[in-house]
Amino acid sequence: MMFKKNEQTEKYLIRRGVPGDARGIIECMQSVMDEKVYLVSEYYLLTERGEQERLKNRDDLTLVCEVNGKIVGVTTIQRGMYKKNRHTASLGIAIKKEFRHMNIGTKMIREAISWSKDQGIEKINLEVFSSNVNAIKAYRNLGFEYEGVRKGQFMIGNQYTDDVLMTYFTSTWHDKN
Ligand SMILES: CC(C)(COP(=O)(O)OP(=O)(O)OC[C@H]1O[C@@H](n2cnc3c(N)ncnc32)[C@H](O)[C@@H]1OP(=O)(O)O)[C@@H](O)C(=O)NCCC(=O)NCCS
Repeated sequence: MMFKKNEQTEKYLIRRGVPGDARGIIECMQSVMDEKVYLVSEYYLLTERGEQERLKNRDDLTLVCEVNGKIVGVTTIQRGMYKKNRHTASLGIAIKKEFRHMNIGTKMIREAISWSKDQGIEKINLEVFSSNVNAIKAYRNLGFEYEGVRKGQFMIGNQYTDDVLMTYFTSTWHDKN
């Protein structure tokens, strides 16, 4: 797939992450965490070795977006680990600043949804800061619904910020319940 950046056309590839991507994933995640306004954690908590182990878990999905051999986006789907919540998963996504608003996030989430459906996951949850209007717009466009709000859950700088809960139903069971 291609996108246009500064009049140049660049190729990007979205694929499943493998243990050899650990360092690139950590660098990408850390660069977004350094911006401090989109993600809760400010430091990536796993070491490279720990990240390699995480990537071996076939129950979860990590997608990477690669441009010129560098990882510029990461999307994760973490499946519920208990019998009672295995039909659900949590989605996380981070695209490097210079590569945003080029449709990469939308493509990655579509792939993550399709993988989740194949795995029998029925409900994909996410949490987003109420201040992150671009992300909320992207999720709404993709069909995520509002599920709730945890008021003043975060303090970003000196600003109380709400935690917006959103969800995507991959099946229609909720219409009947
Ligand atoms: C939020 C994020 C995943 C969206 O991915 P993306 O590749 O930038 O978004 P897309 O190009 O697929 O855009 C999808 C829609 O999102 C909205 N959007 C995304 N970035 C935008 C921007 N900079 N300005 C305005 N709207 C924007 C638009 O509605 C857009 O649809 P449109 O192109 O039809 O206008 C990405 O910007 C990102 O990683 N941001 C920083 C980290 C983050 O916020 N992670 C999520 C935490 S919950």
